[in-house]
Amino acid sequence: MDSSFLTESEIESINLWISKMEQKKIVDSDTKMKTISEAENTLALNYKRIGFGNNRIVYDLNNGFVLKVAISESGIQSNETEFNTYQNCPLILRVHLCPVEELGNGWIIMEKALNIVPDNEEYQHKVSGLQNKFLKSGIKANDMRIRNLRLSNDGKIIVIDYGAFKYTKRK
Ligand SMILES: Nc1ncnc2c1ncn2[C@@H]1O[C@H](COP(=O)(O)OP(=O)(O)OP(=O)(O)O)[C@@H](O)[C@H]1O
Ligand SMILES: [Mg+2]
Repeated sequence: MDSSFLTESEIESINLWISKMEQKKIVDSDTKMKTISEAENTLALNYKRIGFGNNRIVYDLNNGFVLKVAISESGIQSNETEFNTYQNCPLILRVHLCPVEELGNGWIIMEKALNIVPDNEEYQHKVSGLQNKFLKSGIKANDMRIRNLRLSNDGKIIVIDYGAFKYTKRK
């Protein structure tokens, strides 16, 4: 697979990690930090880690984009969901989704978004409003926690982790 963002050898490293992960079936007794450090060692990428969650490790590509690599089976699913949701989402809601540029085997490239959403009532209200808008379009916007959201430069709420979004009706 060709990527505009990653080299062939970077993609090979990711493939190696994903196959390791799938074979190992990361067990519950493994701590998240153990999985993260195993992933980082296998990936051996020349990028700085900018974040991680339960399902993905995220690297800063230093060009305005991030690379998200799965560290669990759900992470693979989340990457696919983000790619597909971004492609299929109605345009008026898409402005609230952090753009996904590429999808590969267990990874995606997404725009980098850094402005944190304030943890206050005003924004909690805005977030519920946004969830309702998604629902009206048949999308259940799950997991809209502050850590999964950012603000655009013009103050719009942007979802950076929409891997748990679900379509409520068939399109
Ligand atoms: N587009 C982005 N721009 C900047 N930082 C990001 C971006 N996407 C993710 N991050 C950072 O990486 C962290 C983990 O990413 P993400 O939430 O997508 O992973 P996850 O494993 O699906 O999370 P969760 O534990 O919520 O399921 C985020 O909380 C954030 O700090
Ligand atoms: Mg998250």
